[in-house]
Amino acid sequence: MMNLSQKITELKKEKNAVILAHYYQVPEIQDVADYVGDSLGLSQKAAEIDADIIVFAGVHFMAETAKILNPSKKVLLPDLMAGCSLADSCPPEAFRKLVEAHPNHTVITYVNCSAEVKALSDIICTSSNAEKIVNSVPKDVPIIFAPDKNLGKYIQKKTGREMLLWDGACIVHEAFSIDKLLKLYEEHPDAKIIAHPESESHILKTAVYIGSTAGMIKYVKDHPTEKFIVATEAGILHKMQQEVPQTVLIPAPAEEDNTCACSECGFMKMNTMQKLYDCLHNETPQIEISEEIRKKAILPIEQMLQLSK
Ligand code: 13P
Ligand code: SF4
Repeated sequence: MMNLSQKITELKKEKNAVILAHYYQVPEIQDVADYVGDSLGLSQKAAEIDADIIVFAGVHFMAETAKILNPSKKVLLPDLMAGCSLADSCPPEAFRKLVEAHPNHTVITYVNCSAEVKALSDIICTSSNAEKIVNSVPKDVPIIFAPDKNLGKYIQKKTGREMLLWDGACIVHEAFSIDKLLKLYEEHPDAKIIAHPESESHILKTAVYIGSTAGMIKYVKDHPTEKFIVATEAGILHKMQQEVPQTVLIPAPAEEDNTCACSECGFMKMNTMQKLYDCLHNETPQIEISEEIRKKAILPIEQMLQLSK
């Protein structure tokens, strides 16, 4: 009898499908995927796929980005309810009002937003390239940066640019407890803290390295003899530990006591192996986007891909 992983691999071949997965997916999904990456890597990969079906093991805005780039392909998401608190914190109509009230601003939006919000933007960015994208805008041009205020504040500090920030945040990265983190650090004084820029500034201040999920994995790979406290969603530890099997990796603690004593994204974890199998088997649920929105939303994504080469 084949297990779920083998069945998924068979179906993938039969249907000429590829599975793209984010580092925050459960380990079994990462292991069955054709490509595992951060938001930028996943967008770049989605832009060059020639399979008939893309199964996106991530959250809705990621699958939507893949569909925007591949209108003629079927893009499947194992659970359509897999949303994102950051994307939800930026409703398109409220965002439109802000954009219309500031017509001379360049609008940079973090990829964690809906297709409608992308359609109102000039350039998309991810945590991998936000600094570069902001620096690509001439110094005398004012910038709206949305929806993540924590990433926005961090980039403001790095670039010295004042930006009009949208007041959005990621519940997973805002869940880290600075008191518990400092206590953990006291217990492991030889450890180095690394953090994702969606975390609040008091967490970022403790970090020797701040970067995207792919950036954090690269940093750990480049420093395999160190010991790390990792402040991002705990799913990252799977690939990270595979890259540095000898390195001690400790997940940063969340405020609320929970089973993993870390911070997990409930949206990312809505995808399961069973749902992945079912969606590939039934070719549903599919991502659909109106052609009107798609045509507008692809422009700032292409702009980002161009600037990230
Ligand atoms: P990156 O993978 O781009 O670092 O983004 C993290 C994240 O929160 C995705 O939802
Ligand atoms: Fe959204 Fe945060 Fe989950 Fe990423 S980790 S999908 S930003 S809620």
